Amino acid sequence: MGKGMQVVSTGSALRDILLGDEQYAGRRVLVPTMGALHRGHLALVKHAREVAGPDGVVVVSIFVNPIQFDREDDLEAYPRPLETDLMQCQAAGVDVVFVPDVREMYAHDRSTLVTENSLSRSLCGAARPGHFDGVCTVVLKLFMLSACHAAVFGEKDFQQLAIIRRMVRDLDVPVEIVESPTIRESDGLALSSRNVRLSATHREDAPCIFRALNEAAKLHNAEGIIRHAMKRLGESEHLKIDYLTLVDAETLQPINDLKRPSILAAAVFYDNVRLIDHVRISPP
Ligand code: PAJ
Repeated sequence: MGKGMQVVSTGSALRDILLGDEQYAGRRVLVPTMGALHRGHLALVKHAREVAGPDGVVVVSIFVNPIQFDREDDLEAYPRPLETDLMQCQAAGVDVVFVPDVREMYAHDRSTLVTENSLSRSLCGAARPGHFDGVCTVVLKLFMLSACHAAVFGEKDFQQLAIIRRMVRDLDVPVEIVESPTIRESDGLALSSRNVRLSATHREDAPCIFRALNEAAKLHNAEGIIRHAMKRLGESEHLKIDYLTLVDAETLQPINDLKRPSILAAAVFYDNVRLIDHVRISPP
């Protein structure tokens, strides 16, 4: 749009400018984030601009959503470099940044949650109880507050993406969901806001996650795939496996054969830093 970037911190201010101001009347595309922006987020912003078009409006939300964290220490340690985030948004041509605080988002007596009951049972949903209720609830709120026409999500969090698509379908939410590919470091490590919390040794070790998944994905049977990835990850003395699971790409339920497209997904801990990654596997 080429106007100055607006930063707003209340839902009413956001709706006032997006719905009341003529210059924001174009196609509104939302990129929900928890901040600590990196090249992965910026690729989503770029994608959002393409979807919005030159006359559209790109909105980025930055909100570390407490209700999707299952561990207090993780919520507390989550990086919050707001100044740098805003500079990055400005440089990326974002039109509006929404930075609410927790009291703005959640009434003290809030009593409504959005729960998806199938896709969120496995993988991160099983490992982090309540996590996806928190994600669905905040994402639906952000859709309502921004009255967006479309929203962009990273394929890196493929379970989150699948669950949001399901929520949108099941609840007739009038928002188009756009998927954007995973951005990686040159050594293969998927970019994540949590990477800055890795020690130098752990950062050096972390590319083994993607390497292990990729190597295993070349095998032709489910059992061999799991065994190989497990063995490779087990060779690292630094990480602890949270889960390593082969799931059906559509239902996200664990499987023991490769008859349909599937996903090999892992979550690992380096001390208290949890990283996730996955690879897609086509039937042989
Ligand atoms: P956050 O982890 O900040 O991620 C925001 C968006 O960036 C998500 O759609 C995520 O999939 C995407 N993303 C993260 N790393 C990426 C990478 N390396 N390449 C491409 N895209 C990447 O996901 C969340 O926040 C929250 O759960 C949220 C949806 C904002 C709800 O609170």
